[in-house]
Amino acid sequence: MNTTDNNSLISRIYELKNKLNAVIVAHNYQRPEVQDIADFTGDSLELARKCTSIDAETIVFCGVHFMAETAAILNPERTVLLTEVSAGCPMAEMITTEDLKLWKQRYPGASVVSYVNSTAEIKAESYSCCTSANGIKVVNSVPNDEILFVPDQNLGHYIATYTDKKMILYPGYCYVHHRINAKQVKKARELHPEASLIVHPECRPEVVDMADAVLSTSQMLRYVKESTQHSFIIGTEEGLLHPLRKNSPEKSFYLITAGQVCKDMKKTTLSTIVEAMQEGKNKITVPENVRLKAKEAVERMVTVG
Ligand code: 13P
Ligand code: SF4
Repeated sequence: MNTTDNNSLISRIYELKNKLNAVIVAHNYQRPEVQDIADFTGDSLELARKCTSIDAETIVFCGVHFMAETAAILNPERTVLLTEVSAGCPMAEMITTEDLKLWKQRYPGASVVSYVNSTAEIKAESYSCCTSANGIKVVNSVPNDEILFVPDQNLGHYIATYTDKKMILYPGYCYVHHRINAKQVKKARELHPEASLIVHPECRPEVVDMADAVLSTSQMLRYVKESTQHSFIIGTEEGLLHPLRKNSPEKSFYLITAGQVCKDMKKTTLSTIVEAMQEGKNKITVPENVRLKAKEAVERMVTVG
């Protein structure tokens, strides 16, 4: 798509934003041109927090389904539009309510903590949700020594190294982060010996163990900005390169390996945003009985620092 096409789509988005009294939020993995037109960008925790104080009738969510669903859980009185209906998170689909109910029967004394990358139904069956930014604090704040952690085994494993609680981990994973291995990290380190290695806690334990810092996407942005280092090897989805370069233009960034791409995060384009807003398409709603239970778990997550 050329610049003229993009400019006319951007003008149309601004027109529709006024017409719908909408706010546009985008995750840090979205395409650069999508992040650039958003009113607010951030990691999962920042976006959820933002959604607790929105002063608009419509929330246009540029991200994946569970994120828009979290916005809908917190905002039953507002319209929440997902900018591409098929944008899901494969990890969130790795656990069903039936799976979780069976697990709960197996470990009746444990409290469920679910990663925010989960469906509303899973959240409704959880004591609290957490994100990669506050998982350790959430788990340590649960008044129970036994935790069933779903669905990301890698985030669960990382949290387990920072808590005395007994963590029972569900075997889900994010295919984008889980495919990064120690051999690839070693190679990236050899190619860029001067660079710091920062990775997302969705990476495998062997990769996390090699890192200089383990951070959520927005924590990475702040870490790089404040660091005296000049180059960084990045262990997360490639969409983060855009805000990293924008925030710290004088620094250099290298991905660990090619293909750190979340296909679903890339489904939103300027055209799909226009379509969703123009046609009021992809409205995300959550049945009220599920929403009320899920809201308790999401609110616990949002209040933990
Ligand atoms: P954060 O932006 O919360 O670190 O999460 C990354 C992610 O994988 C979202 O799907
Ligand atoms: Fe899900 Fe991984 Fe994509 Fe995040 S990057 S939305 S965890 S598949």
